[in-house]
This record gives sequence, structure tokens and C-alpha cells, in this order.
Amino acid sequence: MEVLIRPDAEAAARLVARIIADELRANPHLVLGLATGRTMERVYRLLVEMHVRDGLDFSLCRTFNLDEYVGLEPDHPQSYRHYMNERLFKHVNIDLRNTHLPNGMAPDLDAECAAYEALIERAGGIDLQLLGIGRAGHIGFNEPLSALMSRTRVKALSPATIEQNAPLFPDPAQMPRRAITMGVGTILEARRCVLLATGGEKADIIARAVEGPITSMISATALQLHRRCVVVVDEAAAARLEGADYYRWIFENEPEWEPYRDL
Ligand code: GLP
Repeated sequence: MEVLIRPDAEAAARLVARIIADELRANPHLVLGLATGRTMERVYRLLVEMHVRDGLDFSLCRTFNLDEYVGLEPDHPQSYRHYMNERLFKHVNIDLRNTHLPNGMAPDLDAECAAYEALIERAGGIDLQLLGIGRAGHIGFNEPLSALMSRTRVKALSPATIEQNAPLFPDPAQMPRRAITMGVGTILEARRCVLLATGGEKADIIARAVEGPITSMISATALQLHRRCVVVVDEAAAARLEGADYYRWIFENEPEWEPYRDL
């Protein structure tokens, strides 16, 4: 795992957007794993800008989102399908048929989860998985005690997650209590993972996720097992990291990061 610390949330998002854009340019057929949440809004805005300004090409790219609420129609304003259409897909030249989210309205949810896994496999697996982190440390909706080898399945949302996301609903009571999410095991199979976290309210959980012991109580700790995982944070989210100076030194000195230092 590598931790890249940027001065502020905008610079952190710029770095993540550049990593995605570089991967897409290197492989136009990229299979991209996507995440939702407030933190990602900046990344999608920057990718749209890169498409409009520099012609960043999404035409051959395929996407798989991490998760979707159970019981929301795709056009429901709080569904993740709606989020993705509005924030990214509508504004770039992606073929909507190449964009995938679990269907939270499927009559047989278990079958839907199995089909989603099969679809990822048929696409050749995920090349680059973008991740946010919930305040309690979940990736996707892998709530506390999610098995580290879990696959796509239905999860009951924890009170912490409900508290965090309910304000996004006009009537907080309308927030679904369950979601379909890729499993921790599914996420760990992605060839590369990039987690983005910004803001002081993520400082504690980032320190536990990056430097704490691996535990199914905090599914993000499983990323410590991943061969190629980058955690991008702003200074505020990095505030509790004990090794921050060392991580800064790596970013400033490792040749791999040279092209990303001026962002
Ligand atoms: C939701 C999503 C997660 C996301 C998290 C963080 O719970 N299922 O994938 O990482 O929110 O959201 P935010 O960026 O709004 O803090």
C-alpha cells in the first residue's frame, strides 16, 4: 500500500483523476470499478473536464460500480445509477451499455449478485477499482464483520452508514436499509485499487484502515493485503497517520510519482 498526501481535497481528487486518465489512455478497453459518495463528485467533475478539454476517450471503457441500494428504481434521484448518470456517464462518450451497477430492484437478489460477479469475470476482471471509505471504515457497503473473502451480496446497512447517508435523502426515513455490494474478496481481485478520502472527519478511520491491524470490523483494512493499492488523502484526512513523513518522502522521491507531483 502507498499513501499519497496532497495539500487539499481538490489536489487529492486531481491526482486520482490523473491516475484514472493515465490508465485509460494506456488501455482504452479499461475495466473501471467506480464508487459513489460525496468525495467522488470532484473526481467525476475532473474526468468530465478532461473529456471536454483534452478528449479523454471513454468509448471503449467498461465500468462496474461497487454497490447499489436495494429497492430504488434506477431513475430514483438517490440511486447510485442516477448518481453515475448525472455526475459522469451523461457528460462523457461512454456507451451506457458498457456501464454496470447491481440492480437493486431485481426480483431475485441472490441471482442478481451472482450474475454481477459473472459479468465482471466475463469482462476479464476489474483493472482499476476506485474506492471511497465510509466513516466506519467500509469499502463499498462492506459493513462491520464483512468476510474478507466475501463476494457480491446483499448487506444490511449499519446504523453508522444510515446516519451518514440518510441526510442525502429528502426524507431521511426513505433511505433503504439494505444494499447490494461487491464483496471485499471481489474488490481485492481488482488489479489495482485507488482509495480517496478527504476531510478531517475521515482522519481517524484512515489511520485505522492504513496503519491498524487487519480486521473484518473495518473492511478497508483488507486493502493492506492488496498488491497494488494507493490511498490518496488530503492533509486533513492524513492528520492521524503516524508514518505521514515517510509517505511524503516516498511521494517526493519515488520516480513512479514524478509526473504527479505538480498537480
Ligand atoms: C457510501 C458508499 C461508499 C462510499 C462512502 C463514502 O457508503 N457506498 O462506497 O465510499 O459512501 O461516502 P462519502 O464520500 O460521501 O464520505
